[in-house]
Amino acid sequence: MNVDAKPAVYGTNVQYAIEVDHLTKRFGTFTAVDDISFQIPKGCIFGFLGPNGSGKSTTIRMLCGVLHPSSGIAHIMGHDVVKETEIVRQSLGYMSQRFSLYEDLTVDENLDFYAGVYGLSKEVRNRRKEDLILMANLEGKEKKLAGTLSGGWKQRLALGCALIHKPELLILDEPTAGVDPVSRRVFWEIIHALSRQGITILVTTHYMDEAESCDLVSFILDGRIIDHDTPQNLIAGEAGARNLEDVFIHRVEQVTGRAVSGTFKEMRFIHEK
Ligand SMILES: Nc1ncnc2c1ncn2[C@@H]1O[C@H](COP(=O)(O)OP(=O)(O)O)[C@@H](O)[C@H]1O
Ligand SMILES: [Mg+2]
Repeated sequence: MNVDAKPAVYGTNVQYAIEVDHLTKRFGTFTAVDDISFQIPKGCIFGFLGPNGSGKSTTIRMLCGVLHPSSGIAHIMGHDVVKETEIVRQSLGYMSQRFSLYEDLTVDENLDFYAGVYGLSKEVRNRRKEDLILMANLEGKEKKLAGTLSGGWKQRLALGCALIHKPELLILDEPTAGVDPVSRRVFWEIIHALSRQGITILVTTHYMDEAESCDLVSFILDGRIIDHDTPQNLIAGEAGARNLEDVFIHRVEQVTGRAVSGTFKEMRFIHEK
């Protein structure tokens, strides 16, 4: 069968929510994402981990169809992110690193805006808004400007906006950065509940306790995937590792050939008279 002749819905029965094959992104002579490949089964919570500047957001932008790969391919629910961008965008919800809210719009208006982008009818929109407001614990705050909400509320509103078109895949780029521990806990309870309902989740985080509660994780460093497994297997496979943070630090040291600890010089002026 000619692949190009397949109907647009052929992706609905695929096993993997995300398939990335030799994906590369170059900016001029700099390679931000360097020949990465992985497959994420449907329903998984996938933690995409790596230091700042390692290529996480660039990969995500390619998966969302907003940035063209230099080479390689990626499929979301069986759909090519370059050739079938519109279908891909309908099937995923994206929460960017900056929460992607309109600060001068109210809670209600932000949800309306995203519902409008996806062309939802008034009836569907109102029903979903009601559910999302409850999920995000935002009852009574509908008329507040998004810009006046504190971190946890903003974060849950942004999550609500990313969910309003009922995506099969949710992509969350550092959703808990700068958010207090209570909001972080509530947020992750929501993530696990969404996963139980069958939604696949790709999440980037620097919090290793969050990473340990993922089903699968990848470590990315300088644009390359340096490990990909379940958190349990990664911890068991690294001698002396007590947790995922230990594994991550060890892997960074192995790949760069440099120690992470003790790499700073103590200040001399503190002792000056
Ligand atoms: N549009 C761009 N033009 C040039 N360089 C970029 C661009 N976007 C990202 N980069 C660079 O690519 C690297 C990876 O960035 P990014 O994917 O944002 O990393 P992460 O999300 O892991 O912190 C960084 O060195 C960043 O400066
Ligand atoms: Mg980033």
